[in-house]
Amino acid sequence: MFDIELNRWGTGSIKFGFHEKFNKPKDVIPLWVADMDFASPPEVIEVLQKRVGHGIFGYSYATEDYYESIRNWFKKRYGWVPKPEWDQQIPGVMFGVAAAIRAVTKEGEAVLIQQPVYPPFEEVIHANRRKLIVNELLLENGKYVIDFDAFEQQIIRENVKVFLLCSPHNPVARVWTENELRKMGEIALKHGVKVIADEIHADFTLFGNRHFLFPSLGEEFSKNTVLCTSPSKTFNLMGLQTANIWAEDPSWRKAIQEQCLQFHWHGINAAALEASAAAYRFGKEWFDALSAYLEENVRFVNRRLKEMNSGIWTAPHEGTYLMWLDCRKWGLTERNLDLFWTEKARLWLNPGIIFGKGGAGFMRMNIASPRSILMRAMDQLEMAMNSGVS
Ligand SMILES: Cc1ncc(COP(=O)(O)O)c(C=O)c1O
Repeated sequence: MFDIELNRWGTGSIKFGFHEKFNKPKDVIPLWVADMDFASPPEVIEVLQKRVGHGIFGYSYATEDYYESIRNWFKKRYGWVPKPEWDQQIPGVMFGVAAAIRAVTKEGEAVLIQQPVYPPFEEVIHANRRKLIVNELLLENGKYVIDFDAFEQQIIRENVKVFLLCSPHNPVARVWTENELRKMGEIALKHGVKVIADEIHADFTLFGNRHFLFPSLGEEFSKNTVLCTSPSKTFNLMGLQTANIWAEDPSWRKAIQEQCLQFHWHGINAAALEASAAAYRFGKEWFDALSAYLEENVRFVNRRLKEMNSGIWTAPHEGTYLMWLDCRKWGLTERNLDLFWTEKARLWLNPGIIFGKGGAGFMRMNIASPRSILMRAMDQLEMAMNSGVS
């Protein structure tokens, strides 16, 4: 099922329209933005077709069915049972992150993130005129870890109000352990820092790793956290714009809802409601098969990089479908690194530097594509390397 190559050209896909926006050649393989080249589960497509066949697209609301399917998904996978009243439906996780930051901070107040991380974290803090504080992840003995001392000192020194957690962590492919999460959560509680947990990649915990939803770690954590989730990455529904922000604390929840109401935002559209409910209800088998396929893709890329003596080290892959490639051995400038991948290898990856200064010399590669595409990509990389890395 995941081996099928679907033609996405001309569908308005951002992943495939990149050459226009970024002025890049058209014949490169796009392996960048976190968007999969796979069709969504058949049950989702069926439900959408049925909805379209009905022909009326009037104002819609989330029924009990919608919440039941979400509740069951989280309960079975993470032992966490959210109440419908904790929820605010949002068109995307970053919308929720922005609303949650605005709800509990004033302009100029400090928000802490851990780079290298998904670039909109920094962007949304700047766009809302909050103060950006960066706790750099450390690469120690071949593993990304948290500098907890620096984390706590920065919180105290900068009077941090909110910590924006990325779990699992894009782009370094870490799935934070229960212990790491508890340590961050306890430091946050100790200093009165609220936590916004972006767990959009939660379901992609591969190779036997286990994901813990942050609010599932206890009542104190839950009351101090808003959790952003979405079926979008899991079932490839980004274009339908469906996500949720869960807030157990009634005052934070009210403040988030007020943020939404300032734009008269109530909830997601009819298609997104139907697709999300069907995905969570029927998508398990499809997703299990996808996870196994992605694990094979990770193994394949690692094997090929080794076979061609690429000199690239990849971060141990625990979660997400985004691999983190360390190309620092090549000794290229950021510009030449980007040019090598795009112009010589004809592959479009995200340069690591966009995730923060710790990403210098790295590239992020999206491996959620049919294996045949990754085979071509690795062949192209090998050919480019054979003609010299410069
Ligand atoms: C960590 C993280 N958060 C949020 C998003 C974007 O979510 P949305 O499109 O729902 O705003 C992404 C997309 O790649 C992501 O990796």
